[in-house]
Amino acid sequence: LRATSRRIALAAKTLTITSMANEEEYAGNVKQQLAKLFDASLKAAFPTGPYVEPLVAACTSKFGDYQCNNAMGIFSKIRGQNTEYKKPASVGEAIVKNLPPSEMIESCSVAGPGFVNVVLSKIWIAKNIQKMLIGGIEIWAPRLQVKKAVVDFSSPNIAKEMHVGHLRSTIIGDSLARMLEFSNVEVLRRNHVGDWGTQFGMLIEYLFEMFPNIEDVNETAIGDLQAFYKASKQRFDSDPAFKERAQKAVVSLQGGEPKYRQAWMQICEISRKEFDKVYKRLKIRIEEKGESFYNQYIPGIIEKLSEKGLVEESQGARVIFIEGVNIPLIVVKSDGGYNYASTDLTALWYRLNEEKAEWIVYVTDVGQQQHFDMFFSAAKRAGWLPADGSTYPKVNHVGFGLVLGEDGKRFRTRSSEVVRLVDLLDEAKSRSKAQLIERGKAEEWTDNELEQTAEAVGYGAVKYADLKNNRLTNYTFNFDQMLNDKGNTAVYLLYAHARICSIIRKSKKDIEELKKTESLVLDHADERVLALHLLQFSEVVEEACANLLPNVLCEYLYNLSENFTKFYSNCQVVGSAEEISRLLLCEATARVMRKCFHLLGIEPVYKI
Ligand code: ARG
Repeated sequence: LRATSRRIALAAKTLTITSMANEEEYAGNVKQQLAKLFDASLKAAFPTGPYVEPLVAACTSKFGDYQCNNAMGIFSKIRGQNTEYKKPASVGEAIVKNLPPSEMIESCSVAGPGFVNVVLSKIWIAKNIQKMLIGGIEIWAPRLQVKKAVVDFSSPNIAKEMHVGHLRSTIIGDSLARMLEFSNVEVLRRNHVGDWGTQFGMLIEYLFEMFPNIEDVNETAIGDLQAFYKASKQRFDSDPAFKERAQKAVVSLQGGEPKYRQAWMQICEISRKEFDKVYKRLKIRIEEKGESFYNQYIPGIIEKLSEKGLVEESQGARVIFIEGVNIPLIVVKSDGGYNYASTDLTALWYRLNEEKAEWIVYVTDVGQQQHFDMFFSAAKRAGWLPADGSTYPKVNHVGFGLVLGEDGKRFRTRSSEVVRLVDLLDEAKSRSKAQLIERGKAEEWTDNELEQTAEAVGYGAVKYADLKNNRLTNYTFNFDQMLNDKGNTAVYLLYAHARICSIIRKSKKDIEELKKTESLVLDHADERVLALHLLQFSEVVEEACANLLPNVLCEYLYNLSENFTKFYSNCQVVGSAEEISRLLLCEATARVMRKCFHLLGIEPVYKI
């Protein structure tokens, strides 16, 4: 027993030591490290000013890997005052001359009107790849300024089918949450389910009609909730007596009458089970805090806003006027009820004050942009958020475009119904399974392997086809295209990863051991390009987080795969003199690809 506890104590010790070492090791991504060097150089070259932020950017010219673009700006500021500098290029030269010595830089040169080109040292690149192989890809994880964020995504409505718009929100939101989590942010993944509103009166009344005995209500008895919704709506529209009862039911529900609350809860529960099926299939983690959760806080919040003089009367309603918008934001309807905006303002207050979130992002279609702009402005007027939006706490509406069908119109089924998500996922899976069978995998693999791969590839294809586009653009949903094994698709990328894994397997080398003892050499130009691309992973994730754009990561992943292909066709791996080093490069590529898949919510496959 003593031996065991000593072992545990020892293990704990090594654990803290490694994590401390990781902390120390993180000097920022390549761009940030270069920016530090240039910052020092700018201060040394121009000690009396002007002081400017170093402008460093990656580039793909034959002159360098990165560029520092400060010379022109500085020159325009000192022009005429300082005779030492006759042209921008001489400023560039001063920047180069004052650059502190660093093992990361191989050479530096001034080009054109003062651009400073940096060629990174391939030894330094190799060393960093090796550090990652040993320390794990987490050592490259960005450190963002925020510690806690809310990602409000998916958020379907009760008793209505989740449609492709909700699919987009689910996929994009999950990926953003994953990227933020990887970047050391605590993320509250929030499902702002539409579980409140006047439609419940009609649903509840219809439920009472259909099931005089409330015990009989369950999902099998109700069947399709959407059909139930339609039927109750029809009743509501055609029968005035029913309509009146439905309106009274809303009042009873809001008043908290037990019978009505129970019926409401039952309807929500049935919907929830349907939503959960989709989340389970797509491996989405999300926590529900629906609209109804915030009800209890709304009156207090309206009160707070009124005290600040923000709420005014307008045509019987209570509203907040927003500068530059001609319609006001209604926060209490003329019948005294609350609406989408009252709930969202309250939820924002709750997230800022109770949950202490510093960054709140909302993932919905661009059609809701105005709603978000308006209540964000109201929150700024109330002083909840800094007025200029540049510092934290911060809010962002992450808007996205439509999913289109082949006809260029909104994506519908042939009978012009809303496409059901479950059907879509079923089809993606069955199509990818058919592809695998065509490749002879039914004979090669167990049934389980076939099923799992079909799911990973099928669902991965749906997710990637969505994420690879800039989210603001509309995109056309096309199974043939997304399941193509060539071009910028998940199938191509997943297969590429599986092939790298098979190269490593076939070499029969123990990578885990080799990475500790052998070093990477990047003598071939294609090895260097690939390795540098790997090293840029961290700054790409950081950029994707900052702009809330998962497509930035997709583009990186696709280029990574292309760089790998080029390397692999020009550099022999197994059986060459450089075999070990190149296998390590293969391993590093596979790891970075897997992390990209993970951040996009895609399951990798290891053989194909
Ligand atoms: N339930 C809404 C819809 O389906 C989306 C909610 C988005 N989140 C929010 N806090 N408003 O359109």
